Amino acid sequence: MQDLSLHMLDIIENSIKAGARRVEIMINEDLEKDILSIEIKDNGEGIDRETLEKVLDPFYTTRTTRRVGLGLSLLSQSAKEAEGDILIKSEKGIGTAVHAYFKHSHIDRRPLGNIADTIFVLIAGNPDIDFYYKHKKNDKEYSIDTKEIRAELGDVPLNSAEVIKIIRKDIEEGLREIRG
Ligand SMILES: Nc1ncnc2c1ncn2[C@@H]1O[C@H](COP(=O)(O)OP(=O)(O)O)[C@@H](O)[C@H]1O
Ligand SMILES: [Mg+2]
Repeated sequence: MQDLSLHMLDIIENSIKAGARRVEIMINEDLEKDILSIEIKDNGEGIDRETLEKVLDPFYTTRTTRRVGLGLSLLSQSAKEAEGDILIKSEKGIGTAVHAYFKHSHIDRRPLGNIADTIFVLIAGNPDIDFYYKHKKNDKEYSIDTKEIRAELGDVPLNSAEVIKIIRKDIEEGLREIRG
């Protein structure tokens, strides 16, 4: 139904709603093992045990889609279509980690989509949240951490036009370099 980058936006929307101050996004494309893995970790309020059981139960979420929402169950569905799955770990007051994996070459594996734009939109649209993004493809790796950029900027805001332009370029070029 949708690109994985849109799924990611959905999952990170949950992190932002949960008051996360830092979100870590890790993508690993391992063509040798034929696995695409996406991990999103946040330090938001976490999910209580009762809710966690519900979001993990496909029957429950199917019956209550309107009330519980679809972000996690749709991602779970997309993962299962490509011989993958999702794992959710969460601790109240500590944070949440969502790990989705897929068989990379699976015919039904959704494309990543415009991942550079997605990361950029998240950074530019949430200047008060720190984003760490690491993308590995085989033996190549790109990463960006707005916490480090922020430290270098001093008083200049992260979402100032100049800085935003540099960040966008860095992500686009970095990804082009590793993904080809
Ligand atoms: N990162 C997160 N931090 C805290 N709570 C979360 C997080 N992700 C999901 N949740 C909880 O799980 C519920 C289901 O999430 P989701 O499937 O995306 O549906 P929706 O966001 O539409 O409710 C959310 O309403 C929220 O209570
Ligand atoms: Mg959601």
